[in-house]
Amino acid sequence: QQAKIILDRDFVIGEVDRYLYGSFIEHLGRAVYSGIYEPGHPDADEQGFRKDVLQLVKDLGVTIVRYPGGNFASGYNWTDGIGPRDRRPRRLELAWRSIETNEVGIDEFVDWARKAGVDVMAAVNLGTGTPQEAGYFIEYCNHPSGTYWSDLRIEYGHKDPHSIKVWCLGNEMDGPWQICHLEADDYGKKALETAKIMKWVDPEIKLVASGSSTSFMPTFPEWDRTILEYLYDHVEYISLHRYYENEGDVDDFLASFVDMDRFIRAVVATADFVKAKKRSAKSLMLSFDEWNVWYQKKLKLMPWETAPPILEDRYSLLDALVVGGLISTLINNADRVKMACLAQLVNVIAPIYTERGGRAIKQTIYHPFRLAARYGRGEALKPIVKAPTYGTRSYEEVPLVYPAATYDEASGDITVFVLNTSQDVPVKVELDFRSFDGVSFAEHIVLDGPDLHAINTFEEPDKVHPRREKRVEPMKTDVFSVTLPRLSWNVLRFR
Ligand code: AHR
Repeated sequence: QQAKIILDRDFVIGEVDRYLYGSFIEHLGRAVYSGIYEPGHPDADEQGFRKDVLQLVKDLGVTIVRYPGGNFASGYNWTDGIGPRDRRPRRLELAWRSIETNEVGIDEFVDWARKAGVDVMAAVNLGTGTPQEAGYFIEYCNHPSGTYWSDLRIEYGHKDPHSIKVWCLGNEMDGPWQICHLEADDYGKKALETAKIMKWVDPEIKLVASGSSTSFMPTFPEWDRTILEYLYDHVEYISLHRYYENEGDVDDFLASFVDMDRFIRAVVATADFVKAKKRSAKSLMLSFDEWNVWYQKKLKLMPWETAPPILEDRYSLLDALVVGGLISTLINNADRVKMACLAQLVNVIAPIYTERGGRAIKQTIYHPFRLAARYGRGEALKPIVKAPTYGTRSYEEVPLVYPAATYDEASGDITVFVLNTSQDVPVKVELDFRSFDGVSFAEHIVLDGPDLHAINTFEEPDKVHPRREKRVEPMKTDVFSVTLPRLSWNVLRFR
C-alpha cells in the first residue's frame, strides 16, 4: 500500500497550546492515595509524595493537571481538605462510594504540582456546592492576603497565593449520575452566577463551562447551546469528555480518532452558532479535559473503603495506538482545542500504574503521550493526505494512514506523527515538505509489536516500548520515503 503526505509551512492550523498535554488527578480509587501520595512508601518525600511517581510525571511532559474531580468534585467541600490534618473529617464519598480521609487537599495538591512542574486546573463544586463557596475557594487560593480566606491559607502555611489560573465550572452536570445533576437552563443560571463571583474575586482566571459529558448524550449538542447562551461572555472554554473502548472490532476501535474529530467539530459549530447569535467577536476555545481509552465503567457495589483499587485499566499496545491517533486529532484541531487532559494520570485509567508500597511502571499509553508532549510543539500544520480509505462498522471513510504534524520555528524541528491502521501490511509513505528549504531527517520512532494485546506489567515493565527505525530514505530535495510497519504509531522527526 502507498500513501502521500504533503506538508507546507504556510498551511498552519494554529499554535499548539502547551496545555494540550494536560492530565487529571481525581480523588478516585488509588489516584491520590497510594498513587501520588503514600507516606511510608520507601520513595516518599517529606510530605508523603512518591518521588518515583513524580519522576514519571515529569518525564511524561504533562503541563497542567485537573483536580480534584471529576464526579468527585460535585459532592466535595473543599474546606474539608485544609488545615491541621488531625482535624480533617473522614467522609462518605458518594461519587465513587469510598471513604475520603481528606489527608490531601488543595494545599497539598498545589505543593505536589509545583514539585511535578505542572500547573493546576481546579474544579469548583456546582452539584452540592454554592456560588459563594466557589468564590471563597478562589479567595483562599488566589487572593494575596488581608481577608478571612486568604489569611487562613497563610495561617495554614502558604504565604504566597496558589495562583490557580484555570477553573472548571463544575463537572459533567448534564449527566444524571452526577451528584445534584442539573438541567441545562438550571446549570446555565447557576454557572453564570458562580462565574461572576469567581471573576470578581480574581479577574485573571480563565473559566471552563461544563459541556456535554460525551458525544452520545441524548442532550448533546442542545445542552452545550443552552448553557453557552448563558455563559458565552463569561467563559473562555467549553469542556468535552470522551472515552473509547474496544468493543471487539479492531478496525473500528483504531478509527476512534474519526469520532473524536467529529465531536470536536460539532462543539466548535455549536459554540460558533452561539457566537453568531450573540453577534460576538470572541471565539470560544475547547478544553477536551477528559479523554482516553476506558474499559471498566461499571462499579461493583463494594464495602466502604479508603482508596479502593477501582477503574485500574491495564492498557495494551492496541490501546496505545488508539491513544496515538487521538493525540493526532487534538493536534489537528489545535486552532480551537487549547487544553486537553488525558484522564487520568495515576492508577485510575492512567498511564502510570503503582503498587501500594512498591513499584511504579509506565503503561503502554504513556509512550505516545510522552512523545507527543515532547515533540508536538510549535504550530500544527495541516497535512494533505492522499491515502487509500476503508470503511468500518461505525465509520465510512477511514484513511489507512492518519497524520498530524507540527513545526517549531524557534528550533526548526518538524515532527510528523502517523498512525498506520492497516492490520495486514506496511504502508510506504512519501513525505513531501514542499515549501521547506533543505529538510533533513533526524529520527524515526515506532510504537508497534508482534502482540497487539501485550501490556506492561511489574514483571515486564518495558514489554511495550517505542523503538528506533531506520527506514526513511531521501527521494529528492525535501521529499522522503518511509515505510510504516503494519499497526504502528510513528514519530518522524526532521529539521
Ligand atoms: O475520569 C473518570 C470519570 O469520568 C470522571 O470522574 C467523570 O467526570 C467522568 O465521567
